Amino acid sequence: MEVVVSPTPEDAAGRAAEAVLAGLPRDGGRDPVLGLATGSSPLGLYQELGRAVAEGRVDFSRTHGFALDEYVGLPPGHPEGYREVLLREVCAVIGLPPERLSVPDGSGDDVPTLMAAARAYEDRIRELGGVDVQVLGIGANGHLGFNEPGSALASRTRVKRLSDRTRRDNARFFQGLEDVPTHCVTQGLGTILDARRLVLVATGDAKADAVAAALEGPLMASVPASVLQWHRDTVVCLDEAAAAALRNRQYYDDAAAGLTER
Ligand code: GLP
Repeated sequence: MEVVVSPTPEDAAGRAAEAVLAGLPRDGGRDPVLGLATGSSPLGLYQELGRAVAEGRVDFSRTHGFALDEYVGLPPGHPEGYREVLLREVCAVIGLPPERLSVPDGSGDDVPTLMAAARAYEDRIRELGGVDVQVLGIGANGHLGFNEPGSALASRTRVKRLSDRTRRDNARFFQGLEDVPTHCVTQGLGTILDARRLVLVATGDAKADAVAAALEGPLMASVPASVLQWHRDTVVCLDEAAAAALRNRQYYDDAAAGLTER
């Protein structure tokens, strides 16, 4: 794991954008595949990618985007459905063509229909060669995507019940708590681990405990984001506030300084 602590959220977003760009294939052999997270954490990163596009450093017009998750049961076009969110916050910002955005299908009325769509989603990711770089945020309860505490470390895309904590955290996007869906379809932790590179962004003191548990606690289903420890190419970009509870901080800073002190 590479843990990079930056002074401000804006700096953390810049570092995360560089980690994303460095992980995308550039040989032109196949279209790049970018895994996309919703939430406030990666917004600065998407803005930085938009800046890189404007500067001519990268072009996402041939990139495929795959969302991590989607609510079950929101009407098509609902502004808080993750398809709509990603169209606004990613496609419009980085020039990813909307027809190249895939989002898990949460419109099914029953579990078999939702599960069939979840399996088709996994197939589609595989057909396109797998995710090159997966952008991640972390929930205050340690969730990744919508993999709530207790999610199997090898899980695949499936229907999940949202925790009360997550529903309360996300109620700010809806009229009230009762409007927040109770279920979602989310990539599993095993699906996320298949991505070639993971880039997690976390900022603010509300994430400090979850970040410390994920990076320095035991690898366990109670802290879904601890699965990052199992991946061979994870970059974690934090601001000072989100890094505040890390015990091994000095080592991360030394390692980030590179080989200058040999
Ligand atoms: C949401 C999303 C996650 C996101 C997390 C944190 O519910 N499903 O993918 O990482 O919660 O959100 P935020 O970045 O707004 O704190």
